[in-house]
This record gives sequence, C-alpha cells and structure tokens, in this order.
Amino acid sequence: MNRKIKLFDPVVTGQEEQYLKKILKSGFWASGAGTGFVSEFEKRFLQYIGSKECVSVNSGTAALHLALSTLNLKNKEVILPSLSFVSTAHAVLYNGGKPVFVDIDPQTLCLDPKLVEEKINKKTTVILPVHFAGMPSELNYLKKLSEEWKTTLIEDASHACGAKFNKKRIGSHGDYVCFSFHPVKNLAMPGGGLITINRSDHAKIKNTFAAKRWCGITNRKESFYDIKEIGWNFYLSEFSAAIGIAQLKKLDSLNNKRKKIAKKYHKEINVHHKMPYNDDCSYHFYWITVKNRDKLRKKLFNLGIETGTHYAPIHKFTMYRKNNIKLPITEQTSESIITLPTHPNLSESDVNKVIKSINEFA
Ligand SMILES: Cc1ncc(COP(=O)(O)O)c(C=O)c1O
Repeated sequence: MNRKIKLFDPVVTGQEEQYLKKILKSGFWASGAGTGFVSEFEKRFLQYIGSKECVSVNSGTAALHLALSTLNLKNKEVILPSLSFVSTAHAVLYNGGKPVFVDIDPQTLCLDPKLVEEKINKKTTVILPVHFAGMPSELNYLKKLSEEWKTTLIEDASHACGAKFNKKRIGSHGDYVCFSFHPVKNLAMPGGGLITINRSDHAKIKNTFAAKRWCGITNRKESFYDIKEIGWNFYLSEFSAAIGIAQLKKLDSLNNKRKKIAKKYHKEINVHHKMPYNDDCSYHFYWITVKNRDKLRKKLFNLGIETGTHYAPIHKFTMYRKNNIKLPITEQTSESIITLPTHPNLSESDVNKVIKSINEFA
C-alpha cells in the first residue's frame, strides 16, 4: 500500500517537544505567566516581519475580529474577496459592519484592485484583501486607494506567513495585518494568530489590542484591575507560543521547500489555468483549475493523494446570500479549483506522483 499524500502536514523537527516539556513541568500554563513564551514569540515574530508592533491572539479569526473591533463599523462597508475562509467575512459581522464582496483577479485569485476602485465609496471603512494561497495581493494599488478614500487597510495574511511584497515581508505594509497559525498553516501551532500594527499610533493601538484580547483588563496591580472597554478571551496559550517559536526558526527553510515544490508543479503540470510562480509567494498550497474537478479529485483520492477545494464562495452561503450578487470569476474558480499539497514533508517521489497523476487524468 502506497503511503497517503496529505494535503497539509505540520513539520515537527525542532525544539517543539523540549519546549512543551518545560511548560508542563513549570506549572505555569496560563498565558503571560511563568515561562514567558507568548512575549518571546511576539518579540521574535516582530523582528522577523519588521513591522512596528504586534499582538498575538489565539486564532486568525480572533486576529481579524480584534483588528476590526477598533473601528466603528456600524452601517459601514468593508471590501473583501468572497474566495476565502468564512472568518474573513464573519469578522466584519462580529463588529456590525457590512461585507461588500468584490471579484478576484483570475491570475492570482486575490482581490482585483480595479474592481475595488469601482466599489469603493464614502461608506467604505476598510479594504480587506486576502493573500490567497500566500500570493501577495497588489498592495501598492490597494494602499493608494485606501489613502485616497481614508479607509483602513487590513490584510488577511493567514496564508502568507513569510511571503513578501516589494522586498518587504507581508505584515509590514497595511495598517493591520492578521495572521493565522492554525495547524495547517506555514507557521503551525495547535491554534494561534497575530496582528501586526504599522500605524504611527502603534504604541497606543497595541495597548488597546492587548486589553481587548483579555476581557478588557487594564491597569493591573497585583490582583486589582479596571475594565474600560469590552474585550474577549483571545489570549494565545504558552504551549502554542512555544511551538510557534520552534516553527519560526525554520519558517524560511520550510517556505523554500514549498517554493521548490510549487516551481516544479508550475513547470510540469499540463493544465491551462494554474497558479503562477512568484518567488515572493509563501505557497500555503498550490492551485490548478480544471473542468472535470470532482472526477479528477476522486481519481487522485483513489491514488492516495489528498486535495482540497479552497473555497466555497462566502457570498453563496445561506446567511450571506441575501444580496444575490454575482462574482463570475470567484464562482467559476470555486467550481473548478483543486488545491494541491506543498508542505515540506512531501518527498520528491510524492511530488512526481501528484504531477504524473494530474497529467494523466486531467
Ligand atoms: C484566509 C483565512 N482567513 C482566516 C482564517 C482563520 O484562521 P483560524 O483558523 O486560525 O481562526 C483562515 C484559516 O483557516 C484562513 O485561511
């Protein structure tokens, strides 16, 4: 029996186990206490990205929720793609805003900036691009639009840990950039997320986020504290942060392996429409689109190759369907996309098998 090729698979080859034992033995399991892995992870991640400030949380969803919570979104619009995980849109609703879905560029599957320009208006408060599969969105264009219309640029960089745009790491461009460290992501934790802050008032914003991630607690002195604003229990766990530190140390080398695999897919898979190769992309996965998607996926599955269908478009879900909008590229893509593994546990023969099987059956 051939070994199964998984779509996602975290790489555990570093200090993860050693760190976890240290926390277990310390007896200080609560975040921010004892072992200090949460603050150490934030320090190292900030240095890695090169942004002004950052605040870690316990998921990418929490990062988006928290980043949007400092803006008054009541009756205001947020422009975002529909080809994303549903959290990107839920975060707008958690904060009372209106998601405005805009179609994507068929080459990158990221927001089409020209269509953003068509949709932007006085009610637009946030532009929220997703760096799909780790491909950097057109940030120059979006930043310019955001400045012209005085909106806030919040990036969903859940797939883009380690990616770059204009030679700078994703995380150092937009006002706020949200990361997910879900176990399938390029930097994997049992669960985690983070917001980088690049605004000039970054110190003040960091304090606001820091309070809101722990139930709004401020002015702590021993066991006394005050609450000025609502907050949530979004604190990252010490265990996750420790795994994050181990993962961060090898992130660039793991991403280089992903890029090598993506380059080979791009060169050797014989389908008409496929993900471009870009050295600045973090290749969270690789995508192709084909007409007979479900049939091909079944063939691959029977050969032991797991694939995905990222994503069912958000605007088609029952609770988001109200406005009956049409997004032709998103809809076509979601019906024909197959997402392929790029994780660094793939062997050369796994990669060759994926390519050969697609070329034979697509
Ligand atoms: C594009 C995108 N946004 C948001 C999220 C939410 O992240 P998390 O699962 O860490 O809450 C994910 C992860 O699944 C994602 O892929």
